[in-house]
Amino acid sequence: MSLVEEARRVRENAYVPYSNFKVGAAIRGASGQVYAGVNVENVAYPEGTCAEAGAVAAMVAAGETEIAEVAVIADSPIPVSPCGGCRQKLAEFGAGDVPVTLATTDGKTLHTTLGELLPGAFTQEYMERS
Ligand code: THU
Repeated sequence: MSLVEEARRVRENAYVPYSNFKVGAAIRGASGQVYAGVNVENVAYPEGTCAEAGAVAAMVAAGETEIAEVAVIADSPIPVSPCGGCRQKLAEFGAGDVPVTLATTDGKTLHTTLGELLPGAFTQEYMERS
């Protein structure tokens, strides 16, 4: 199953009583293992979490910390765009050239990379003093 199909499959389980906007995300780790996540909303709205954050958490919980590929899917008119916070969360574990596929449930896709999604990312290097 492709990574987009994995994201499509898990998306069905999104918990979205407030936005009714289901998002599915799938990450392939460097090991080849796939980790999935969905958005999980909360009655205290800011406590909701994005699909990408769930997939990152599943990967790290499984003991893996290197992203090889990402896919995100939603029922949107154009391929869904990860929020700023999720771009930073993904960049923590993936290099700039990591491929990212953004998709719609009706088959539109946009191919990009973590570097294109978050140019000028804040990284550990900025914390090193000369
Ligand atoms: N959301 C995601 O899970 N990922 C994205 O890339 C964009 C937005 C969620 C957050 C919230 O549950 C709903 O979509 C509407 O913003």
